[in-house]
Amino acid sequence: MSTILETDQDQMLFPWISKKKAEVIKSQNLKQSDLINLGIGDVCHPLPECIIKALHKGIDKMGKEAIGYGPEQGRLDLRSKISTVIYENRFSEDEIFITEGIANSLSILMSIFKEGSTIGVLSPTYPVYKSLLSTCGMSIVEIPADQELNFSPPNQKLDGMIICSPNNPTGKAFSKNQLEAWVQWAKQNNTLILFDGAYEAFIQDPKFPRSIYEIKEAQECCIEIRSFSKSIGFTGLRLGYFVFPKTLKWKGFSLAQCKNLISAKTNGVSYLIQEGGLAALSVEGLRASKQLTNSYMEMTEKLKDHLISSGETVIGGDHAPYLFWHVGGSSKEKFLHYLESRLLVTVPGVGFGMEGFLRLSGFINEDILNKALKCLSLDINVTK
Ligand SMILES: Cc1ncc(COP(=O)(O)O)c(C=O)c1O
Repeated sequence: MSTILETDQDQMLFPWISKKKAEVIKSQNLKQSDLINLGIGDVCHPLPECIIKALHKGIDKMGKEAIGYGPEQGRLDLRSKISTVIYENRFSEDEIFITEGIANSLSILMSIFKEGSTIGVLSPTYPVYKSLLSTCGMSIVEIPADQELNFSPPNQKLDGMIICSPNNPTGKAFSKNQLEAWVQWAKQNNTLILFDGAYEAFIQDPKFPRSIYEIKEAQECCIEIRSFSKSIGFTGLRLGYFVFPKTLKWKGFSLAQCKNLISAKTNGVSYLIQEGGLAALSVEGLRASKQLTNSYMEMTEKLKDHLISSGETVIGGDHAPYLFWHVGGSSKEKFLHYLESRLLVTVPGVGFGMEGFLRLSGFINEDILNKALKCLSLDINVTK
């Protein structure tokens, strides 16, 4: 087993997982659907009816009239809807930028920083940040979690900092006090915070901020980045947005410069997908999103309860559909053990920057949950 791990050490995590899954399917003569997938956090329900209707309506309109390039910053009606529905008009449509999702927003926003800038990332966190930062020539500074997997600002100055709350993979949300400390630190050190709210819709307790702008003075040092991916199943459609407040004070970079940046980087997001975004923010869409997020959180809670009642140590899962399961030892070896002997797909913690854990995704349906509970009931501690 160690040779397999060593030869694969330099590979990116998700391609490595796909390769290992394919090997097990081949060697055990299985179908893809035989695997119990608690791995990559992708949605597993079809799009809600109101989104489908909106997409059909949009395509019919495009068949009747010429709809060409839209504004690079995104459709005004969608920005206006985001301003009202999400931010209660605290930010104008001028300060909102539509993108193809968080990955796209981040890659656009990287151009704000000079090459070689120091950018902090939490550890453990979403591995794509580090890949993006290194391809953009940034200098990455990892900010380690404490014993409880919480994060405090470092004692150093950074040009930028990516914070994700609720965090992937720990599934933990930052408290108001924690975020206040980060905002004060950013202001004192002239650091620009890029706040990734991919999982904000899953926050269960209103005491935990959903938006960084619930924190005083955050509009001076934070760009909030959001997505329709996880909240309403747009991972395959691709839609998101970020807020660049006009009050932001960071090295003189202004809202006007941000507009220039977006014009240079994109010709805008597809008209049709933005039609879907408008439907997602309608009363029906918001209701559908609540149903989806509740269902994923219910799956996560059942998985967590099961593991905890089996005596396992599990973190997270309260405000995001991710569990960080403490298995000890090499997470890639534990991953292979569960994959090969139980057909259970997880994600090794090391891929997020932390050994000894497996991440389990609650983006599953009842059928997958039942299979997972059954296989997790077998001698759980076998590899400890
Ligand atoms: C923390 C985090 N941010 C962003 C993304 C990707 O978001 P999008 O689909 O909007 O690009 C993910 C996807 O798993 C994620 O976990």
